[in-house]
Amino acid sequence: MTPDLMNQGAERVARFEVEAARRAAGGAGGTASYGRVLKDRQAVDVSHGRILYLDDVCVSFDGFKAINNLSLDIAPGELRCIIGPNGAGKTTMMDIITGKTRPDSGTVFFGSTIDLLRHNEPEIAQLGIGRKFQKPTVFEHLSVVENLELALKTDKRVGASMRFKLDSAQTDRLHEVLTTIHLLPDALRTAGNLSHGQKQWLEIGMLLMQDPKLLLLDEPVAGMTDHETERTAELFLSLKGKHSLMVVEHDMSFVRTISDIVTVLCDGSVLAQGTLDQVQADERVIEVYLGR
Ligand SMILES: Nc1ncnc2c1ncn2[C@@H]1O[C@H](COP(=O)(O)OP(=O)(O)O)[C@@H](O)[C@H]1O
Ligand SMILES: [Mg+2]
Repeated sequence: MTPDLMNQGAERVARFEVEAARRAAGGAGGTASYGRVLKDRQAVDVSHGRILYLDDVCVSFDGFKAINNLSLDIAPGELRCIIGPNGAGKTTMMDIITGKTRPDSGTVFFGSTIDLLRHNEPEIAQLGIGRKFQKPTVFEHLSVVENLELALKTDKRVGASMRFKLDSAQTDRLHEVLTTIHLLPDALRTAGNLSHGQKQWLEIGMLLMQDPKLLLLDEPVAGMTDHETERTAELFLSLKGKHSLMVVEHDMSFVRTISDIVTVLCDGSVLAQGTLDQVQADERVIEVYLGR
């Protein structure tokens, strides 16, 4: 590392510590408002009571119907759990919502006015749909704070990144997110030194920096310790209401802790839906997924 970069790093740490001390002393101007972080995002019309609406969606891969007449909707602020056997189409459904895969037919709406099939992947992220993949993809050599800052930058080239400076709403947001993801004490640690669970939280934090309306999380607690899984359940419950969440998970005790309505996917469409108790008692669900 050049002396210049080292100086910049030291300055950044000093600035952060001063700011953290100011906040600890009660000097901050209250809770950050989410709306101030992103200024020019299109509003999502949820007046019909749905943030996400899929109807009769189909996708085939080489003649194999991975998604087969899938219809599903999610209410604003809802935390929906999705379960189902491997190959059911859970990840493919997320690929369709986020614009990674185009369906052959069907309807996919964000709120009642935004037709997601008219938008590409970056546009869909910009509209307020954040996605967490299974494997954490944090920048290992950067600190926790730097990772979160980077999530706000649109121009990620090194030169532009050096000139980038958070405004006060963004700094508020950064502290709020650090607290939410339980990483405030680790803010200056190198991301590569975090535990697997902490890396997952950091990646969720990077999504939260962009204030997503809808968060899609694919097997978020896979590989976590029991303790980390419990903390993640608390985290998701705290996000519910402020964001809508769609969580794909196989860990049934985790699903039991966080879920209201559970949707069971099988062969690319909805097999059953209800409380976890209801779907666990469903003969068809026992047959294809839970086992006898
Ligand atoms: N890009 C692709 N090309 C071909 N087949 C795919 C592709 N993506 C998924 N599939 C197939 O679609 C089915 C659903 O996969 P997936 O959505 O990953 O299921 P799940 O996440 O529920 O385990 C599987 O049979 C998988 O092999
Ligand atoms: Mg999957």
